Amino acid sequence: MEIIVQVVLEVIMKMNNAVYRDFADFQLEIVNSLLAGREPEDIARHAREAIKVVYGHPIPNGAELAMNVNEECNLRCAHCYYASTHDKALEQKKGLLSMEEWQSIIDSSLAAGFKQFSIIGKEPLLSPKITQGILQRVEERKAEYPGVIYEMITNGTLVKDNIHWLKELDFNFLSISFDGYEKDHDKVRGQGSYRRSKEGLAFLRSEGVKNLSVTNTVMPHNVSSLERMMYDLHDAGAEYFSIGFCFPTDYNTASCVVDSMDVFLEALEQLSDPPQGVDISVNLSFYETPGLTGKVMKMLESGKHQFAVTQDLAPSLIIPLRESPRIAIQLNILPVMYYSGFRLDCTGYAMDFCTDLQKPEQRKGFGNVRDTSIQELWKYAREQLWTNHTEEFYRTLADAVRK
Ligand SMILES: C[S@@+](CC[C@H](N)C(=O)[O-])C[C@H]1O[C@@H](n2cnc3c(N)ncnc32)[C@H](O)[C@@H]1O
Ligand code: SF4
Repeated sequence: MEIIVQVVLEVIMKMNNAVYRDFADFQLEIVNSLLAGREPEDIARHAREAIKVVYGHPIPNGAELAMNVNEECNLRCAHCYYASTHDKALEQKKGLLSMEEWQSIIDSSLAAGFKQFSIIGKEPLLSPKITQGILQRVEERKAEYPGVIYEMITNGTLVKDNIHWLKELDFNFLSISFDGYEKDHDKVRGQGSYRRSKEGLAFLRSEGVKNLSVTNTVMPHNVSSLERMMYDLHDAGAEYFSIGFCFPTDYNTASCVVDSMDVFLEALEQLSDPPQGVDISVNLSFYETPGLTGKVMKMLESGKHQFAVTQDLAPSLIIPLRESPRIAIQLNILPVMYYSGFRLDCTGYAMDFCTDLQKPEQRKGFGNVRDTSIQELWKYAREQLWTNHTEEFYRTLADAVRK
């Protein structure tokens, strides 16, 4: 670890920005504390204090509101973390928020300081009126709120019917999910779905939509077609690739899950000769794959890599692998859930970003926007939930590092 700290300090010395230096020092100290076996509760207490000081309180970049506009999907992917994909009885069909309710939520969230609006589910283009209404409201009002951005993730199969409004928007990212090249993708997403999603991507590009991104979930069966998929989808219009790793739930197919360094290293191998002009982020989140994240943290001890840091909403340790095309591992080891925002489901419940989707009994969340204002929900999330959350976070991370 000493070698890597030395390397990191050299990198940091080259940065003139004192804020970046603080970010890196702080995160490295956490890595060191975990590896040294310090008590998770101590680390959590220290992390909470430091996050407030280093990242600002309230966070200067503003909070994120993630939104599930519906509980429906036209696909049934084997790896999907939504319990309702695998048990249709769990789909929420009643009591859904109306367009007027969503638009009022957007207005209150902007007033409360939320700056990032992300439509993350379930399949937003199956509820086009609501999705369009939300995004247009943010677009209309963003001039009053500097720095406001919005993003959406979709399976991409329903793009053509919605192109008239999609092309009028100004996405920070419009992401389509692909899970390997055609045969591998169709194996989890269904026959013909790669072709349909790729047509959607190419159509968006032909209509001038910018910031097209691909979200790829690595699984043992699809890791070997990652490079081929990237070349194919870059040709079709993708500029950014966000690579994640499949995590287990009570419902998804066990063979899809990645918890092995072999698959992780094979994914890196697949990225060794990427198409020119792409930007690739390999995301390892402690929330999603604690085992794998713990193993990669241990690998860092070997001192092979240099660190940098991000300053965004979900601050991460960045391990740059390559400058051009840019490839970086983004290692998310900070408990920023509830501190940086939360998610609303389609019936108004406020929840964490996604883990509760895996277990129906956790769906109730911590309040409903129909009875409690966004301001109050956010205050409760930051001031109450966050404390317990940080302790649980470091207990699990410490276990993962010890294994
Ligand atoms: C759940 S989907 C919702 C949006 C849309 N239906 C789609 O497929 O893009 C969001 C992303 O989560 C990914 N995902 C689903 N289950 C996952 C799991 N168990 N582990 C990691 N990523 C998962 C999907 O592949 C997709 O890229
Ligand atoms: S991953 Fe997306 S497209 Fe696939 S079933 Fe889940 S919500 Fe639907």
